[in-house]
Amino acid sequence: MTTATIPATQRAVVHKDKGVAEVRTIPVPAIRDDEVLLKTAYYALNPTDWKQLDASLTGPGTVVGVDVAGEVVAIGKGVSRFAVGDRVAGLAVGNKSTETGGAAEYAVVNEGLGFAVPASLDLAHAATWGIGAGTAAQVLFQSLGHAYPTGAAATNDNKGQWLFVSGGSTAVGSFLIQFAKRAGLRVVATASRANFDFVQQNGADAVVDYHEPDVVAQILRITGGQVPQGAELAGGAGWAISTKVVREGGLASIVPGDPSGKAIASSLGTVQPRHTAFFIEKNFVFTKDFYARVPRLIADGVRPTPVTVRDGLDAVIDGLGESRAGRVSATKLVFKVAP
Ligand SMILES: NC(=O)c1ccc[n+]([C@@H]2O[C@H](COP(=O)([O-])OP(=O)(O)OC[C@H]3O[C@@H](n4cnc5c(N)ncnc54)[C@H](OP(=O)(O)O)[C@@H]3O)[C@@H](O)[C@H]2O)c1
Repeated sequence: MTTATIPATQRAVVHKDKGVAEVRTIPVPAIRDDEVLLKTAYYALNPTDWKQLDASLTGPGTVVGVDVAGEVVAIGKGVSRFAVGDRVAGLAVGNKSTETGGAAEYAVVNEGLGFAVPASLDLAHAATWGIGAGTAAQVLFQSLGHAYPTGAAATNDNKGQWLFVSGGSTAVGSFLIQFAKRAGLRVVATASRANFDFVQQNGADAVVDYHEPDVVAQILRITGGQVPQGAELAGGAGWAISTKVVREGGLASIVPGDPSGKAIASSLGTVQPRHTAFFIEKNFVFTKDFYARVPRLIADGVRPTPVTVRDGLDAVIDGLGESRAGRVSATKLVFKVAP
C-alpha cells in the first residue's frame, strides 16, 4: 500500500440507534489490495441512507452513506486504474459497515466502483454519479434489457417506443431519462408541475403532474394507449399509476422504496415486475462495467443531478431528516466534507 499522510482517526456520521445518527470520531479504515482510500471532498445523500438507518439492519456503529468524491490518498497493491492524487468519485459501501461509508472524512472505494473525475466536472457534481446514476443504468440496461447507447445521439432501433418514468424529477430519474433518450426511447414522466422544465431539459417528451386526478388518462392520451415498459422510481408512491400505464404483460422496473421492497410487492397488477435493487455484491459485474463507462457518458453530455451543497458532516443529520420528510425535490443534497 502506498500512502500519503493519513491520520489515525477521522470524523464520520455513524448509526447511533434505530433512526438516529450522530457524528463520531472513528478509526480511518484500512484498505484491501483492490481498494483506494479517498480523502472525501463531498458526500452525496441518498434516501437509502436514512432508510437503512431507520430499518437498522446492521445496527449501531454502522457508518452512514455511499456516494463520495474526493482525492486518492492511498492505493491497495493490486490497484491499476488510480494513483495517489487522482480525483475519483464512486461508491463507498456504507450503511452496512462499521469501518467505512460515504459520510466520513476518509472513504474506501473498490477500484471497480469508482471513476476518474474529468477536469470538466467539479467534485460536488461528480458525487451524484453514485447510487442514482448506477440505479438508472440498472433499470434501463439490466432490468428492461436495453443496450448501452454508443454516443450522444440516439443510436438504437427502439423506434420511439414509449417508456413511462414514475418519478421523473428524482435523482434516479434525472439520469434514467437521459439514458433512455440516448437509447432511442420516448419518455413520458410524472413530476410536480414546478419541475416540468427540469424533467424536459433532461429529455422527457412529456411530463404530467402526478397530483392531478386524471393523471393516468393524461398519460394514455399522450402515448395513445398503454405502454410496454415503465420504471417506478417514486419509492412505490406512483405504483398505482404505473400499473395502469404499463400494458398487461409489459415490463415494470421497480426500484423499491424500502430495503426489502415489500411496500409494493403485494399489488403487482398485470405487469411483469423487474425488481431493480442496487445491491452491489449481487450486481458487482454490472456495476463495475457501468463505472468503466461513466467517463464516456460524461463526455457524451450526460449531466449530473443538480446539487444543493451544505457545509460539513454535522449538517448531514438535518439532511437525513429533510430527505426522510420528502423535502428534497429535483436536487441532490451534497455535503462538503474536506475543509
Ligand atoms: N433499492 C435500491 O437499490 C434503490 C436505489 C436508488 C433509489 N432507490 C429508491 O428510489 C427512490 C428514488 O430515489 P432518489 O434518490 O432518486 O430520490 P429523490 O431524488 O430524493 O426523490 C425526491 C423526488 O421524489 C419525487 N416524488 C415524490 N413522490 C412522488 C410521486 N408520488 N410520484 C412521482 N415523483 C414523486 C419528488 O418529485 P417532485 O418534487 O417533482 O414532486 C422529488 O423530486 C427512493 O425511494 C429510493 O429509496 C432505491
